[in-house]
Amino acid sequence: MKLTPFLTLSALFISAFSLTGHSQDKELTLYTQRHYAFDEEVHAKFFKKTGIKVNVVKAAADELIVRLQEEGENTPADLFMATDGGTLHRAHEAGILQPMTSEAALEKVQPPLREKGSHWVAMTKRARVIIHSKDRVDPSELSTYEALADESWRGRVVVRSSTNSYNQALLTTMIDADGRKKSLKWASGVRKNMARPPQGSDRDQVRAVAAGLADVAIVNTYYLGILETAEEKKDRDAAAAVKIFFPNQAGRGTHINISGLGVVKASSKVGLANQFIDFLLSDEVQALYSKNTFEYPVVDGVPLSKRQKVWGEFKADDVNFSVLGELNAEAIKVFNEAGWE
Ligand SMILES: [Fe+2]
Repeated sequence: MKLTPFLTLSALFISAFSLTGHSQDKELTLYTQRHYAFDEEVHAKFFKKTGIKVNVVKAAADELIVRLQEEGENTPADLFMATDGGTLHRAHEAGILQPMTSEAALEKVQPPLREKGSHWVAMTKRARVIIHSKDRVDPSELSTYEALADESWRGRVVVRSSTNSYNQALLTTMIDADGRKKSLKWASGVRKNMARPPQGSDRDQVRAVAAGLADVAIVNTYYLGILETAEEKKDRDAAAAVKIFFPNQAGRGTHINISGLGVVKASSKVGLANQFIDFLLSDEVQALYSKNTFEYPVVDGVPLSKRQKVWGEFKADDVNFSVLGELNAEAIKVFNEAGWE
């Protein structure tokens, strides 16, 4: 008796499935760790333009990678998207991505912003910078990430936990450039200089500097954009109390990371996936990211938003993003040795 509603439901489900069988051809499933409301607007625009619906599954990146490995051939996913080059590298290493054939990815984005075998492509760039109190820090006091370990910064630095992939990525590039020994010394020095044990998000670090708890923080630029445009006045005031400093301009350049995506190996919808990737890499959408998520375009010639122009131009570190993945485990060890929670 109790089975009846179940049977009815599943019968309905099956018929709904077969009824929409045709439109299923025009659907993509995206596994993503991104959490931006604006991404949904992008998907809506894409649907309006192409009739292709994007079904989104959001979770932590490593969870999604494991899920894709477990689902294998049976995965409903067509695309995998992450907010860290190291994570994209790990996804490729896990064998869950196929070489992409999107024209825009192959023609408009060159390595290192595209994996050399085209298993993933960057969609946006993000810069990890120093933000400083306008009142208490003169930009002339600032130079490099490395210099934040100097004794002159004792008790003046805030930065989030070392479990965060953005910090791990920054440290991999430092290990790559300066070596392990110097990087450990740096991490220990910064740990000593912290105004409080690592806690909270990048936004919380900006809030802490604005509140006078510390003088400098290491954060991704787009979080400042989010605070500058926040609904809460308190957040807009916090953003107004600080300024961006682009470190390492006389040397290797400011650390950048990427958000990017790849086509899932088991996907049979490569054509639709290509249309989606082409759309994300169109000049129109690239400019929209600059304006709305405050990330930087990956396509040359796309103008920066007004806000990003105000933040200023900078020289970016041209590190190969595979380094972010290859040295990730090493970076975690160094952070642990340094006692950076
Ligand atoms: Fe983020």
